[in-house]
Amino acid sequence: MSATKIRLDAIAYGGDYNPEQWPEEVWAEDVRLMREAGVNLVTVGIFSWALLEPAEGRYELAWLDRVLDLLHGGGVAVDLATPTAAPPPWFTRRHPSSRPVTREGHVLGIGARATFCPSSPDYAAACARITEQLARRYAGHPALVLWHVNNEYGGHLHACYCDVCAAAFRRWLRARHGDLAALNRAWGTAVWGQRYGDWDEIEPPRIAPTAVNPAQQLDYARFSSDAFLACFRRERDILRRLSPGVPITTNFMATSKPIDYWRWAREVDVVANDHYLTAELPDNHIDLAMAADLSRSLAGGRPWVLMEHSTSAVNWQPRNIAKRPGEMRRNSLAHVARGADAVLFFQWRAAAAGAEKFHSTMLPRGGTDSRQWRDVTRLGAELAALRDVRGSRVVADAAVVWDYESWWALELEWRPSGDLRYLERVAAHYERLWRAHLTVDFVHPEADLAGYRLVVVPSLYLTTPAAAANLTAHVRGGGTLLVSCFSGIADANDAFPPGRHPGALREVLGLEIEEPLPLRQGETVRLEGGCRGDVWAEDVLPRGAEAVLRYLDGPAAGGPAVTRHRLGRGAAWYVSTRLAGDDLGRVLDRACADAGLASRADLPAGLEVVRRDGAGASYLFLINHGDEDAEVPASGVDALTGAPCEGRACVPAGTVRILVSSLPPWGEGWGGGPI
Ligand code: GLA
Repeated sequence: MSATKIRLDAIAYGGDYNPEQWPEEVWAEDVRLMREAGVNLVTVGIFSWALLEPAEGRYELAWLDRVLDLLHGGGVAVDLATPTAAPPPWFTRRHPSSRPVTREGHVLGIGARATFCPSSPDYAAACARITEQLARRYAGHPALVLWHVNNEYGGHLHACYCDVCAAAFRRWLRARHGDLAALNRAWGTAVWGQRYGDWDEIEPPRIAPTAVNPAQQLDYARFSSDAFLACFRRERDILRRLSPGVPITTNFMATSKPIDYWRWAREVDVVANDHYLTAELPDNHIDLAMAADLSRSLAGGRPWVLMEHSTSAVNWQPRNIAKRPGEMRRNSLAHVARGADAVLFFQWRAAAAGAEKFHSTMLPRGGTDSRQWRDVTRLGAELAALRDVRGSRVVADAAVVWDYESWWALELEWRPSGDLRYLERVAAHYERLWRAHLTVDFVHPEADLAGYRLVVVPSLYLTTPAAAANLTAHVRGGGTLLVSCFSGIADANDAFPPGRHPGALREVLGLEIEEPLPLRQGETVRLEGGCRGDVWAEDVLPRGAEAVLRYLDGPAAGGPAVTRHRLGRGAAWYVSTRLAGDDLGRVLDRACADAGLASRADLPAGLEVVRRDGAGASYLFLINHGDEDAEVPASGVDALTGAPCEGRACVPAGTVRILVSSLPPWGEGWGGGPI
């Protein structure tokens, strides 16, 4: 039996707790301070396999009993981890074939974590044994409210290229392609004489003298995501059997490349995500918003768990910049605004040794007489006051297509330009929608698009016939579509469909592409309307689409750069160059107007505005990332102070306000009210 609700009566607040790094005397103080900070959930045991099973088959769980009992006594619930992200040294020594191997053939050493090959049967068996031990012992423990399997699958080790994986890959290929003739067709092995006559001839895409078959690489990316998923499923199924009724999760890194989280999201009871700011990026709160929106979208709109973020600096970036006063609070509440019902950190107490001792924590080295601690306790109190927000749903205005497979395929070698990158394109479009104060859901290209007036499709290189039909139906039915360059190029095997680009998207976009015309490094092209593109241009041949903006110079001078195609009751826009910033914003504004999304241009820049609607109440999150106070037309009761707010809400620089009202504060949907 699977459960989808975490048994807690408030927003979850806490973080990773690694008591094994400390003498037992410290634990009581930990629990006392957790209470003081409002912590109600901690994740325990993530990397403690070597301590729980110090030798094969010898289990020492008494210390974990004491930790869980102590936490329960202090009113802190537990997210109990299976420790399988860190196999003990004895295991690797005894089972050397479980060591991962890189694409270059290097066998990886130990002394770190994630030192396992996902296809290793020895690893699978050892994981099953320790998972069973934990499940049998703690299934009925009153502190247990959530199971946490492994940690960030695919995070450190994206794929393994060992011989065990080679054999597993062949089995996976048989299941996908059926027979060798089909595989040879799908992979286009007639090119360069790669025809396979025996399954055993097939290898992982290891380093070779030159570019390895792209279809083989794409299938290996799929296989690797599935291989980690099989690891997750094995542990999950043991937990479900032995600990029924307790939800099971694993922590995603939603905006990272190696894992196809659309496939994974169906397999977890609750979606959990880890997010760390790229500290040096200006406006990195927009990146945070994107990760949060993607997490919620993976969860199908349901509330999700922010499993990890940081109170201040991390330790693994080139320059680990501390958060400014107020930033941690804005970050945390922005995740809640975008659907998180749990705010957790890595980690509770500052480590004194090991790889992560420079990482910020909830309880800093300086102890409780510190700004960080005061911020942590204040946030705990505020989240407690926001308990009614739980379960409410974020109201989105538009959808952006997100596709891990397109990301994998687009970035293989030997494309027209290596300067066109998938995540950059998604983030560029997302950023403009954020700045337009639009809230975005991410969708799989074949997902139901009903309810979205505007669907944005950044560089969907890999477009299946089903995806193309889906996007076309959206437009025919009255929706607006905006597609950016290098979309509709290849099918699921990275092969071109018949005819010109953009393949299956020709009909909806009303155009063909004579030739992609990538630009030199640093070269830009001028467009009508004062816009400039870079990286990419195309010879666009309209087949029903009208030119909205033309190229004024560059290799496609005089030709259409941005087009619009009326189809059925809707319209499809196409942008054939790389636009960014205000230039992209101007085109998106016009597509928004086409879609009937009224402009919110009057809202202050830097103000994040997100609405969550619950049973009978609507929560308007106003997060001011700017240096100046912001004022917006809105009414309600301040959810944190209880103060009424009539007509206009002031949000001082750097702060957050949450207004609760019994009715949506600006009416349903776009353009229905004051903002
Ligand atoms: C990841 C891991 C954590 C910790 C943090 C540090 O998210 O899951 O165990 O190492 O990074 O930022």
